[in-house]
Amino acid sequence: MELNDSYGRKINYLRLAVTDRCNLRCQYCMPAEGVPKLSHSDILSYEELFLVAQAAVSMGIEKIRVTGGEPLVRKGVVEFLARLSTLTGLKHLVLTTNGLLLEEMAEDLSRAGVQRLNVSLDSLQPATFKQITRNGELAQVLAGIAAAERAGMPVKVNMVVMRGINDAEILDFVRLTLDKPYSVRFIEYMPTIKEENWQSLVITGEEILGRIEKEFEFKGLDQVELAGPAKNYKIEGAQGSFGLITPLSGHFCGACNRIRMTSSGKVKSCLFSDQEYDLKPFLRSKDVIAVKVALRRIIVTKPEKHQISCSEAEHQAFAMSSIGG
Ligand code: 5AD
Ligand code: SF4
Repeated sequence: MELNDSYGRKINYLRLAVTDRCNLRCQYCMPAEGVPKLSHSDILSYEELFLVAQAAVSMGIEKIRVTGGEPLVRKGVVEFLARLSTLTGLKHLVLTTNGLLLEEMAEDLSRAGVQRLNVSLDSLQPATFKQITRNGELAQVLAGIAAAERAGMPVKVNMVVMRGINDAEILDFVRLTLDKPYSVRFIEYMPTIKEENWQSLVITGEEILGRIEKEFEFKGLDQVELAGPAKNYKIEGAQGSFGLITPLSGHFCGACNRIRMTSSGKVKSCLFSDQEYDLKPFLRSKDVIAVKVALRRIIVTKPEKHQISCSEAEHQAFAMSSIGG
């Protein structure tokens, strides 16, 4: 079965947040004081999350990314992933993590059927990493990435580029792809929490690519179906590749194939849309038909594009940890 929205986009990708908790406090994701946490009764049980995944896959979703908050802080997540991996029709089961707990969990995640990992890593300098994450240990993440590699899971490294904070490291991240099989993706900073003067942090994909071009020669790679919105490049002879994700400057929405659900059961068809549907009442009453009807409605009303640009953002501020990126 194929799921299409009203603009002819095929919707085959669900991002599923299993928690809003996180063991970091990245400065672009949440304010310093953190964000109010959902109560335990608001968070969906694994049973309820599975019900949504099952309904979505039966309707044509082929890829699920488990996100958070930080998904690995929720107890039982490995067993949940193992259960997801049994869904017939699900082709890709992937996970986004900050990597802090990966060293001890990578092997189990791979065994549970997780095929690939996206690790958020915004600096290769311990002090800058601490500053951005408000006290994270870089070495722990690097050990986590190494463990993922040993466990045989391909790794994408997501770097949110911020002017004056980590942009001096763009070339270091490109260099990482020379000897490591990682796919490094440079993400334009998005004003999700709308911090003061956020415009000054934005570096467009074009500027990032321009800086890389001055130093390296590289070739564009073909787009792979289901691979997401990155444009990818490779330096000749490099083990890995790099890509750009341009939610602000790029024409990204035309190829958008995703919907997302928060850990409390709110489904959103666009990160920047203030519109959401609450599946929780249907899940609490195990009404699968109502869940499917709601999913279809969400897809049909998916907006054509968001209105965020490099200088303007009209949406209500939110912490990415509440939605899962
Ligand atoms: N701008 C860009 N990327 C962000 N992420 C979280 N908040 C932002 C933001 N404001 C990224 C994280 C992670 C992914 C889920 O989303 O770094 O890699
Ligand atoms: Fe950082 Fe992700 Fe945690 Fe937000 S959810 S604080 S981006 S690690």
